Amino acid sequence: MLEGKITIITGCGSGIGLATSKELASHGAVVIGVDVQEEKKRVWEEEMAKVNGKGVFKKADVRHEQEIENLFTESVKQFGTIDIVFNNAGIGDYTKAHELSAKKWQLMIDINLTGVFFCCKHALMHMKEKGGSIINNASMLGHIGAPKVTSYTAAKAGVVNLTRTLAIDYAPYGIRVNAVCPGYINTPLIQGLSEEFKNELINKHPIGRLGEPEEVASVVRFLASDDASFITGTSVLVDGGYTAQ
Ligand SMILES: NC(=O)c1ccc[n+]([C@@H]2O[C@H](COP(=O)([O-])OP(=O)(O)OC[C@H]3O[C@@H](n4cnc5c(N)ncnc54)[C@H](O)[C@@H]3O)[C@@H](O)[C@H]2O)c1
Repeated sequence: MLEGKITIITGCGSGIGLATSKELASHGAVVIGVDVQEEKKRVWEEEMAKVNGKGVFKKADVRHEQEIENLFTESVKQFGTIDIVFNNAGIGDYTKAHELSAKKWQLMIDINLTGVFFCCKHALMHMKEKGGSIINNASMLGHIGAPKVTSYTAAKAGVVNLTRTLAIDYAPYGIRVNAVCPGYINTPLIQGLSEEFKNELINKHPIGRLGEPEEVASVVRFLASDDASFITGTSVLVDGGYTAQ
């Protein structure tokens, strides 16, 4: 279904990015896996080999525009084009506003919002020639508030609305731009949370459990594919019913 599609996935080294690398590769995509942590290369390559996935790992930090510009230019040089981009790199934080330093706020905005903008900007420059599909990993917390998730909710709401505007501006070029908005997913991002808090979170998902990275990956695969050819500017909630309440 994605045979030979050249695909960039940021934050590929663990969790949702790793699961999506495998999912898209197992449907024929050639995946350029990008992560700021070079030490994730080995595990990414081992996991990709399990699905006979084609691709390469590249180190880049989504906060730095020059690195992102180089990533896209070099990838196009190496593979000829870019068809699909999954902007997934992100961090979490739980700090109430009056305790949140300017430095921590800025780090969140730099990675979770500006990083998505840089990757979209450079993807769009290349995709303008022959179309493509961009999927931004936002969060259900881009649609609702939650205790202490101050900077994260702000950044993710920004991603949801950035997605809408890019979809409008680039539809004439045959580029679709969508977001996925997961509920709480079992990944290293939430591993630091206490068991008590995790149980509280489980109870807030009507499905009665947290999500798995593969359950987000399959939605990304759909949005990336021609099966979603009339879908752009939307954000798909993958949240076990959390926001239905
Ligand atoms: N886990 C959840 O409950 C959940 C829910 C909703 C949305 N999300 C979103 O999904 C995305 C992936 O989260 P995850 O849970 O798989 O987390 P994760 O921590 O398992 O993976 C995130 C990856 O991003 C990489 N990364 C971090 N900063 C980077 C940077 N500056 N440049 C490049 N790579 C960077 C990390 O090295 C890591 O490999 C994030 O955007 C997150 O906000 C996660």
